[in-house]
Amino acid sequence: MTRLTVYEYPHPILKQKAQKVSGVDDEMRRFLDDMLETMYEAGGVGLAAPQVGVSQRILVIDYERDEEHAGNPIYMVNPEIIWKSEEKVCGEEGCLSVPGQRAEVERYAQVRVRYLDYNGKEQEVLADDFFAIVVQHEMDHLDGILYIDRISRLKRSMLLKKLKKEKNSV
Ligand code: NI
Repeated sequence: MTRLTVYEYPHPILKQKAQKVSGVDDEMRRFLDDMLETMYEAGGVGLAAPQVGVSQRILVIDYERDEEHAGNPIYMVNPEIIWKSEEKVCGEEGCLSVPGQRAEVERYAQVRVRYLDYNGKEQEVLADDFFAIVVQHEMDHLDGILYIDRISRLKRSMLLKKLKKEKNSV
């Protein structure tokens, strides 16, 4: 497997709307494997294709993993939210493309998502709790949205200042 490069803010690909893909073939499965491996190595619970420089509607999630064990990898191709709850929740989020930073973001408490799985089969899942937050965060990446676009301007400018400072000190 190949470890992919994770692009960081303010790389322009992170602002692009990603394209739908036509289906899942062996080449796509290799890419999904590489994405999962890259996500595990970077210590993330989710990764979207634009973060590794591919502007396509593809993401991987494993919100059950811990430091020693892979949990339950979920591969989503062309995911769509087909229902969302009225209830919203606030949770702290981070992002591999905005390293070292975290902020509280408001999300729908539950979403129902339709997608193609690793075998190209259509699936639907009702995501709640942490899974709901992760899937909304990753799907935002497919529309060129980062979690820092969903916080107040003041909080964003403080966070970006900190990010810049930490980058310069490395
Ligand atoms: Ni992210």
